[in-house]
Amino acid sequence: MEKDFDGKVVLITGSARGLGAETARIFASRGASLFLVDVLADRLEQTRAELAATGAPCQAMVADISQRANCQAAVAAAVKAYGRLDVLCNVAAALRFGRVTDVPEADWSIIMAVNLSAPFWFSQAAIPHLLETNGNIVNVASQAAQIGCAYIVPYSASKGGLLMMTKSMAMEYMKAGIRINAVAPGTMKTEIGEGVHRPDDLDVELMVRYSGVRPPSEAKEVAELIVFTASDRASAIHGACLSADGGVTAG
Ligand SMILES: NC(=O)c1ccc[n+]([C@@H]2O[C@H](COP(=O)([O-])OP(=O)(O)OC[C@H]3O[C@@H](n4cnc5c(N)ncnc54)[C@H](O)[C@@H]3O)[C@@H](O)[C@H]2O)c1
Repeated sequence: MEKDFDGKVVLITGSARGLGAETARIFASRGASLFLVDVLADRLEQTRAELAATGAPCQAMVADISQRANCQAAVAAAVKAYGRLDVLCNVAAALRFGRVTDVPEADWSIIMAVNLSAPFWFSQAAIPHLLETNGNIVNVASQAAQIGCAYIVPYSASKGGLLMMTKSMAMEYMKAGIRINAVAPGTMKTEIGEGVHRPDDLDVELMVRYSGVRPPSEAKEVAELIVFTASDRASAIHGACLSADGGVTAG
């Protein structure tokens, strides 16, 4: 395995499990020093210990990133731990199902805080450090940023906002030597929907469009694209949305 991230420091939110953890595994195998952030303390420690056992420098911080101060503290802790920051991956997200008329204010607020505001606060804190390393940001959007998705309207709106935030930030830093991109997965075999209430009287016909006709992807398949996007091989990619959605947005 090529160690093209040797000496580079990568901060990944949502890295206790799922896509974030898979992304961490690939970065680790390619020599990166990792700083993992998640709210799930036990799973985070499990993932940190697994990666550390492979010899990868790996530190972790339990944090609820729906709070701006925690986003800032996580970036500061990563830089304190390793002395630099090369890559920020905003992977964490919250998902809820329901009709528009049933969405509680608390659901709207947490989805916007985790999926849209946190990537902004992380980026705001990280950019001064990324400017020093010619680093980059990879935001995990979704197919839901590109096509309308019934019953997950707040989630879809947050991911659409994240996509345009990615492009607008990329424009602002076009000349500054850092790259900012989005990766947009389709349905993956992860635990994001587990324990999330899903009313059983929803019109499934309206959900077919974004459920896809192919089986869900493995998180690893999408993680490979995130790591590629963060690598020097992607040097011409800036302000892009790279889809890994099994064809859902193809037509
Ligand atoms: N799984 C899918 O089908 C799918 C489809 C499209 C996009 N995505 C996106 O992929 C990314 C990864 O999702 P996943 O499928 O691995 O799901 P996941 O639920 O396994 O991972 C998300 C992680 O974010 C963490 N998180 C949530 N709220 C947090 C908070 N307040 N503070 C800190 N951490 C918090 C969770 O604890 C979890 O570890 C997300 O951005 C998601 O929107 C997933």
